[in-house]
Amino acid sequence: MNEKNKILVVDDDAGHRTMLKTLMSGWGYEIHLADDGTSGVEKVHQEYFDIVLMDMKMLKMSGMEALEKITQYNPALPVIIMTAYSSIETAVDALKKGAYDYLTKPLDFDKLKLTIAHILENLYLKKENIHLKKRLDQTFSRNDIIGKSKAMTALLNTVELAAPSDANILVTGGSGTGKELIASAIHYNSPRKDMPFIKINCAAITETLLESELFGHERGAFTGAEKKRKGRFLQAHGGSILLDEIGEMSLAMQAKLLRVLQEKEVTPVGSEENIKVDVRVIASTNRDLKKMAEDGQFREDLYFRLNVVTLEIPPLSARSEDVPSLALHFLKLFSEKNHRDIKGFTPEAMDRMIRYNWPGNVRELMNSIERAVVLARSDFLSVDDLPFSEQVISEQLFFEADTKISSTDVPLAEIERVAVLRALEAAGGNRSETARRLGITRKTLLKKLRQYGEA
Ligand SMILES: Nc1ncnc2c1ncn2[C@@H]1O[C@H](COP(=O)(O)OP(=O)(O)OP(=O)(O)O)[C@@H](O)[C@H]1O
Ligand SMILES: [Mg+2]
Repeated sequence: MNEKNKILVVDDDAGHRTMLKTLMSGWGYEIHLADDGTSGVEKVHQEYFDIVLMDMKMLKMSGMEALEKITQYNPALPVIIMTAYSSIETAVDALKKGAYDYLTKPLDFDKLKLTIAHILENLYLKKENIHLKKRLDQTFSRNDIIGKSKAMTALLNTVELAAPSDANILVTGGSGTGKELIASAIHYNSPRKDMPFIKINCAAITETLLESELFGHERGAFTGAEKKRKGRFLQAHGGSILLDEIGEMSLAMQAKLLRVLQEKEVTPVGSEENIKVDVRVIASTNRDLKKMAEDGQFREDLYFRLNVVTLEIPPLSARSEDVPSLALHFLKLFSEKNHRDIKGFTPEAMDRMIRYNWPGNVRELMNSIERAVVLARSDFLSVDDLPFSEQVISEQLFFEADTKISSTDVPLAEIERVAVLRALEAAGGNRSETARRLGITRKTLLKKLRQYGEA
């Protein structure tokens, strides 16, 4: 936003014109000049201006006529008119015809400066709003949730079906799997999308504060409650609320939340009043609420209320076919953000990312790529740019095999089979490499593979 704002001055008095140009250029604007109404209208057709400053009394095409033509062509373009003090009726007329404001001559320079600043400020806000709206629309279009794997396709289909309804939704998944992204997609694809979307992390606030945070409080309801406060539920009225990490909510708070969901009204702390509220609840957690309900740690009735639709986001390791597209998506994002022109990944790097099991899921992938982009020394990211080594991957694989095996009574031959196949996978199917890593000969490896029906 370093570009200067552009102002067009339309005035047939050469001396006044240049005076205005010098004055306003000094305020940091880019000033263009038109020496009569006709050329003023022409200029507006040819190029973009933020503001037009125009004299009313001109010989060739009056200011009034020019004003009409300009506002007809671009009703959003603010036109400030300059008029003699004696012809105030002209000014009123001009305002009716769509002028933004008028200034009397001789000009009060301070007033001119303020008027311009005021217009630009509004303009800036408007642009920001459009920009924000665009960004939101983009962020939550289906195309921006990356994932063509079977699991993600099924999940996104359910999102599309469930979003437009008013059903409460429970989003579950490990850390960094995209719970918040999916929750946003639900809100922004629902009829409530232009109403507030309020997020609150239930684990980040102490139990006592959580109640007033959610439902509000009266002045003096507790120590420190100096002002009456509207809770998050009321702020979200007409829209949606995301209760993040709902699994961390105490049983007492759960009871209060249940009441809100049942009665559709909230009672601020320290108040007798019940206030009707219309909010769609989306809850998310990385805990197993069903199991918590069975163990008495989560209210079963609340669980059923929240869980009208459950969206379970699988861990990234269970959808490794999404890794390449996610990796490229983040590569593009962070290359742009950091003004780097990184073209892609070496095949080895991509292969390693696909085999790694990403305990931190998409967030870990995203962070790894951001770091790699920032530190990269060549046009293609290689294995050296990734924060985890081949050894980590092998260890992961053996650890998985290990837990799988130790959970039941498994014959030694089965343990060996799993270990051999995992090692083969870790070596990308390269048999010599697998044999070397297992410390056996290639011939022995081949024999074993034949036994397993793999060769
Ligand atoms: N499928 C996806 N496509 C594109 N970006 C994704 C996807 N999944 C997650 N992300 C991005 O990864 C990051 C982590 O996602 P998000 O915050 O939604 O996860 P979360 O499950 O809420 O994580 P946490 O457990 O840490 O709260 C975000 O920047 C999000 O935009
Ligand atoms: Mg989250």
